[in-house]
Amino acid sequence: MTIVGARPQFVKAAMLSRALRAAGLHEDLVHTGQHYDDAMSGAFFRQLGLPEPAINLHVGSASHGAQTGRMLEGLERAMLDLCPDTVVIFGDTNSTLAGALAAAKLKIPIAHVEAGMRSGDRGMPEEINRIVTDHLCDQLYAPDQISSEQLLSEGISPKRIHITGDIMHEATLCHVPVDPLLTLNAYQVKLKSFIYATVHRSENTDDQGRLREILEGLDTIAKDLPVVFCAHPRTAAKLAELSWKAKHLSMHGPADYASSLALCASSRLVVTDSGGLQREAAWLGTPSVILRSSTEWPTLVSSGASRLAPPGTLLEQVINVLRDDVNKPTIKPEKITPTASIIVDLLRRVVL
Ligand code: UD1
Repeated sequence: MTIVGARPQFVKAAMLSRALRAAGLHEDLVHTGQHYDDAMSGAFFRQLGLPEPAINLHVGSASHGAQTGRMLEGLERAMLDLCPDTVVIFGDTNSTLAGALAAAKLKIPIAHVEAGMRSGDRGMPEEINRIVTDHLCDQLYAPDQISSEQLLSEGISPKRIHITGDIMHEATLCHVPVDPLLTLNAYQVKLKSFIYATVHRSENTDDQGRLREILEGLDTIAKDLPVVFCAHPRTAAKLAELSWKAKHLSMHGPADYASSLALCASSRLVVTDSGGLQREAAWLGTPSVILRSSTEWPTLVSSGASRLAPPGTLLEQVINVLRDDVNKPTIKPEKITPTASIIVDLLRRVVL
């Protein structure tokens, strides 16, 4: 049983799903319904060819406790009905945490894809999800050496840890459009002459001052360099509450996966608080400014591919990148690690 619920998980699950089918292993995909708008869910299922969910719990939006609680109840029922040999969960969302808890209580083996990531900031709901999930799982699929060492440092047995490579990296290189022209025309921008921006994390959207600072900063930048801003529904709702209107920013709804990759690869700079987009930018050779004080992907910062922009530093960091980072190397691994196939081989050992 694979459990998904939020946008980035659809991308990771699609890669694994294809590899499971190729290996002749049966998958029941369960959607918690954490993301439910067509642009946040259905569009990803269609574009990535994900299988129809065996069950959709339709939990929708709620406070963290209520949302996770509804998922826990629904996932327990789904596991009792479908009797999976093993459960696979992805990343660090509330759907991940609920999947880990439900399976652990039912004593079903659990595998966690993207294990061992830590930002060190327990103020982020995702950090809590990562820590609890990793300690409940039987199989921990760490994307790299650093995440594997993190798990060891927390006392997790090396027998449970496997370095598999990063499934998002494999997905990025599989799906990046060869020709971004259609997307650039749709968003009315020119190659390497615009900024691609997204904001959705609660620490940036739920504090009105912080959200206003980010949007006003981007709006100022957009006077000189076009900025394509793709708003997550929660960000759009918060901006409506603030009655904030862009003067120069080009405002859009959430981009589908292929369009987001095309915008990412073709932009001059990415400004984001997304964990996925900051990595995609580095792999696609675009510098990024991360709208956070910490990141669970510290090598992006140490390599010079990304710069952190805690409150009060957005404009300064964007100017720094535009001035200094033109020819800076970004993280472009030479070869694709076949992460999905490596994971399927590991799962086969549990299931068969
Ligand atoms: C979740 C994950 C985050 C991930 C992100 C990807 C958690 C704690 N966070 O954050 O790690 O980076 O997904 O996008 O699980 N909303 C809609 N329609 C939707 C989905 C959400 O309108 O289809 C709005 C609702 O107002 C909702 C808000 O967005 O309350 C937040 O959605 P939620 O799923 O709680 O968390 P994300 O911010 O999307």
